Amino acid sequence: MGPEHEKEHYLQLKDEINRHNYNYHVLDAPLISDGEFDALLRELRTIEELHPDWITPDSPSRRVGGTLSERFRKVAHPAPVLSLANAFDANEVRSWLERIEKLDERVRLGNFVLEPKIDGLTVVLRYENGILVQGATRGDGEIGEDITANIRTIRSVPLSIPLSGRDVPVPDLLVVRGEVFMLNSDFERLNAELQEKGERTWLNPRNTAAGSLRQLNPEITAARPLKIFVYQILASSSADLPDKQWERLDYLRELGFPVSPDSVYCEDAEQMLAGLAAWNEIRDRLDYDIDGVVVKLNDLRVTESLGFVGKDPRGAIALKFPAREVTTQLAGIGVNIGRTGVLTPYAMLDPVLVGGVMVKQATLHNFDFIRDRDIRIGDRVLIKRAGDVIPYVIGPVLESRSGAETPYEIPHACPVCGQETEQLPGEVAVYCVNSACPAQLIRNVEHFASRGAMDIAGLGIKNVELIVQKALVADYADLYRLKREDLLELDGFAGKKADNLLEAIADSKRQPLERLINALGIRGVGEVMAQTLAANFETLDVLAARDPAEFERIEGIGPNIAQAIADWFARPSNQQTLAKLKASGVWPVAEKSAGDEGQTDLPLSGQRIVVTGTLQSFSRDEAKAFIQKNGGKAIDSVSNKTSFVLAGENPGSKREKALSLGIPVLTEAEFFERFGEK
Ligand code: IVH
Repeated sequence: MGPEHEKEHYLQLKDEINRHNYNYHVLDAPLISDGEFDALLRELRTIEELHPDWITPDSPSRRVGGTLSERFRKVAHPAPVLSLANAFDANEVRSWLERIEKLDERVRLGNFVLEPKIDGLTVVLRYENGILVQGATRGDGEIGEDITANIRTIRSVPLSIPLSGRDVPVPDLLVVRGEVFMLNSDFERLNAELQEKGERTWLNPRNTAAGSLRQLNPEITAARPLKIFVYQILASSSADLPDKQWERLDYLRELGFPVSPDSVYCEDAEQMLAGLAAWNEIRDRLDYDIDGVVVKLNDLRVTESLGFVGKDPRGAIALKFPAREVTTQLAGIGVNIGRTGVLTPYAMLDPVLVGGVMVKQATLHNFDFIRDRDIRIGDRVLIKRAGDVIPYVIGPVLESRSGAETPYEIPHACPVCGQETEQLPGEVAVYCVNSACPAQLIRNVEHFASRGAMDIAGLGIKNVELIVQKALVADYADLYRLKREDLLELDGFAGKKADNLLEAIADSKRQPLERLINALGIRGVGEVMAQTLAANFETLDVLAARDPAEFERIEGIGPNIAQAIADWFARPSNQQTLAKLKASGVWPVAEKSAGDEGQTDLPLSGQRIVVTGTLQSFSRDEAKAFIQKNGGKAIDSVSNKTSFVLAGENPGSKREKALSLGIPVLTEAEFFERFGEK
């Protein structure tokens, strides 16, 4: 970049930062995340280091906070409300330490305090003779806004100090600084309530806290679950306050202020540097958002004598975490298709760095989410990536809409095979019901060959992918038409492997009807339902000829599943698949099942059993299979006809209902005692 362009870029950057500053501090409506803002400011500082002559007093690097809005009365702070220099990795903390060690040798022997850098809003609380007389925002660091009425609504802010009954000396004047924030759990509860009422939800706890604190109507603030942590004494009339940060935190605590319990005392620099590494995990387990960890010299006299660089005290530094929430452009919405044909939308994003990882896609949960949040293509969206969680879209930044965004339409056809999609009444999910859909094919074949279905050894997902990618099968019925020479073409298929697989496929023809029914992949039909169907219909021909009403008459089959079964058999592509299976000799006839009428000699014959809660010995499905094998019937809901309920841990409403109807409830131990071991 030539010098002229560089200057031009610098001026543009200044403008851009000023605009974001105004959006953030005056309007409480940031268009970009804090992390992105920091990055811009950092870039500006780097340029200024190279060209100090370009710096003018209006550079955003020259001030602490933002401009003031006219809505609240202005108040002067008794001392500047300073900010902190940032470090972005442990090495930068080390360099900071080396710098200040050179300036004051007491640093070398001193101890440190690590404090969570709470991602909230700075407030200044003024106590005269132990009474809260004023609460203010930080404003530009010199002058803030009077938000006393709002501050008073925060339950954890003491209206007088010390806490009654405590014998702690209180200076006539005490001004403290803290951070107002909202717990993540409270935020989620608040949003759930808003959603239920059909009102607009908030994006994140910080925005919510900001919006709540600067309400002109304190009643609204009062209704929001705000919290505060206090960490600094800004001014005081007393000459003998503790002169160590760690002791001051204790002193503030004794006075009755909420002080973060997560701060850590470090004996020396080595301990401090080693302690930094733990904060990424600490961050995950806290119920409040932090955007870094603040490293402070414990000895405040040393901090004082070290002085400042601009507005940043030399005696402390913030180690900033990579941002977990950033905004980026939603370039488009893609759709994935699962085995059962469920269409799941995902966001295609302009690539962006989140939490240190480049992200191009994020989950959008489901189509209702897109509609409820009014997410449009072209929107600037806030995305989050925390811990192991897959990145997800939080919502659109409505303030940055240009009008050119396009609303999203739920696809009426499968984006892969083009077949019309279906949505069941009352269900969120949208399905592609074409079992020959290529996207579903891999998952369908994998399911067909899986353990609980046709149990074909050697046909795991990797080999299924190879076979489908080489277009050797168009549906799972084609597995039975595979030829040796087809398989030999596949990567890694030496002679023996191909023969083994062909043998396993041929063997699977002998699987019983219930296995085959499960293998078909009918929505809502798993192992247990497949057993029920096999017990009632002798062959797939019989099953295919029935209508939904006949399925519904069978115990345990509701109207949705009944319809899904009938629909599946009615679809021509599935009929073709069935014809191929039959032609290949994959057409088992049901043996007389143990669950049939007339079988009275099994331990659970005639018993209608509901399984609920988490069992120790087996999964819910295994338990149901056990019941059927032993002559009983596994039923989904409790009624007067239920024989008993088998209840594991956290059983919920089915157990309650059984008790209210006077139906016996058995624990797992009681069940085995009566009906034998698994
Ligand atoms: S110390 C001179 N400690 O982070 C003291 N700041 O620029 C400077 N913050 O918005 C601040 N938690 O309000 C300090 N434990 C903590 C903090 C903290 C959050 C905020 C602060 C300011 C920013 C630092």
